[in-house]
Amino acid sequence: MSAEAQKRAAAEAAVATIQSGSIIGVGSGSTVNHFIDALAASDTQIEAAVAASEASAERLRGHGIEVRDANQVTELAVMIDGADEINRHLQMIKGGGGALTREKIIAALSHQFICIADASKQVTALGDFPLPVEVIPMARSYVGRQMLKLGGHPELREGFTTDNGNVILDVRRLDLSEPLHREQQLNNIAGIVTNGLFALRPADELLVGTDDGVERVT
Ligand code: 5RP
Repeated sequence: MSAEAQKRAAAEAAVATIQSGSIIGVGSGSTVNHFIDALAASDTQIEAAVAASEASAERLRGHGIEVRDANQVTELAVMIDGADEINRHLQMIKGGGGALTREKIIAALSHQFICIADASKQVTALGDFPLPVEVIPMARSYVGRQMLKLGGHPELREGFTTDNGNVILDVRRLDLSEPLHREQQLNNIAGIVTNGLFALRPADELLVGTDDGVERVT
């Protein structure tokens, strides 16, 4: 089964977990696009969605699904989102698509986080995928130097601005063997808006597409 087919299968399995009438959080990326399309094609009628990117919001609206601002909701039953890497503790690296800040906000608002992914995203140790770090533009050089001091190799994502008007540094070779500590440490660096480690708030459940079908990991 191709990675694309695995993503679609995981996305369809996630639709089966959604309750009609609920307000849900929707992440960003190609796997989430499959989820949005599968949700729209299903019998499940949600009340509305809060979207992690303009692209997801546009796709939801294109299917006639109402999109609400995060400030209009106090909590969300569930968030459905992809990941760039996910380990057995369901800690993730996210932000390959640059939507990490809004994804983290929606994850914080959500009672349950269901990650949907193809099998290539499952890793034994986080860190092969460069860690995306969203940075206020004036702090780009300062944060880059801090990443070097921590042993990372930052690279500016050229020609990319986040939905929040910031830049992304993709940081390679940072030791992520203690994801909780690293996420907290990066949260304390001035100028960093969000880092792509989702360890403090990991997923609650992973639906992963494999050649043998969709596996559910909790
Ligand atoms: C976007 C993300 C995505 O969830 C992540 O990049 C996975 O993307 P895809 O589903 O296209 O493989 O974190 O910021």
